[in-house]
Amino acid sequence: MKILVTGALGQLGSELVPALRSLYGASNVVASDVRADANQEVATSGPFEPLDARDGVAMGDIVRRHGIRRIYHLAALLSAVAEREPQRAWDINMNALFAVLEVARENSCSVFTPSSIGAFGPNTPKDYTPQDTIQRPTSMYGVTKVAGELMCDYYSRKYGTDTRGVRYPGIISNKTLPGGGTTDYAVEIYYAAVESARYDCFLSGNTYLDMIYMPDAVKAAIDVMEADPAKLRHRNAFNVTAMSFCPEEQAAYIRKHIPDFEITYTIDPVRQSIADSWPNSLEDYAARVEWGWSPEHDLETMTADMLNVLSTRR
Ligand code: SER
Repeated sequence: MKILVTGALGQLGSELVPALRSLYGASNVVASDVRADANQEVATSGPFEPLDARDGVAMGDIVRRHGIRRIYHLAALLSAVAEREPQRAWDINMNALFAVLEVARENSCSVFTPSSIGAFGPNTPKDYTPQDTIQRPTSMYGVTKVAGELMCDYYSRKYGTDTRGVRYPGIISNKTLPGGGTTDYAVEIYYAAVESARYDCFLSGNTYLDMIYMPDAVKAAIDVMEADPAKLRHRNAFNVTAMSFCPEEQAAYIRKHIPDFEITYTIDPVRQSIADSWPNSLEDYAARVEWGWSPEHDLETMTADMLNVLSTRR
């Protein structure tokens, strides 16, 4: 199985690429990214191609040259950046996906596309948000995510392209920082706890959001693509979650390891209003039944692992 990953130097790519390389062989996983600073592990531990994912011609060339059969399309702007630059967010999030789907259609590739809790909106049921429900997001990020979900379903129905994906909650990791998301606080808080035992949070203390630890996020991406297609009733945008918590609760779990940890709040109105429009907690029954989704980490084990990894790295 030859695989192309777009956005490979981002938060998810920098941990998914090594996992894919150890599973399918380093030479079979081509990492690509628009950034020129391609000297990170993913760019040196196997094939790397510089690629602006909006460039379908260049992508088609890479796919044919390497005999690619599966594309993990991770290149996208996150919610807070997208809200600052909505035109650029539409351009990158939609045109790159369109290029990927066309290349996949022409070259018979399967496609993984991450959607997000951001695909939901203020009218969505907030607790145990069902798989199939009203969405109508109000952020530009959410608009591109819903449109992306529909485009992936369309290519599957119309052309038989094997499109699959999950709706990720906030992803927490310790290798590469997320860039400009609403859930970034839940990552920053661990770095700050280890550095200075204090964190000034940009969301209010009682804002509940779904989260997932990176090893589970990587597992979801691999497992949904390896799932038996006969068992998939949905294809794209499976709700997946591992935990739901608010900053106050996360701080309490950090205090079990760093008792004098302090959290303060300086609310960012843009990110707070995005967070308020998203669900408190997802229901991920379809993913569990259709392809065996089952996360391994909860807030307690993730907090212990994050603090352990970050403090040994200091
Ligand atoms: N982590 C993402 C964000 O905050 C949600 O998909 O934008």
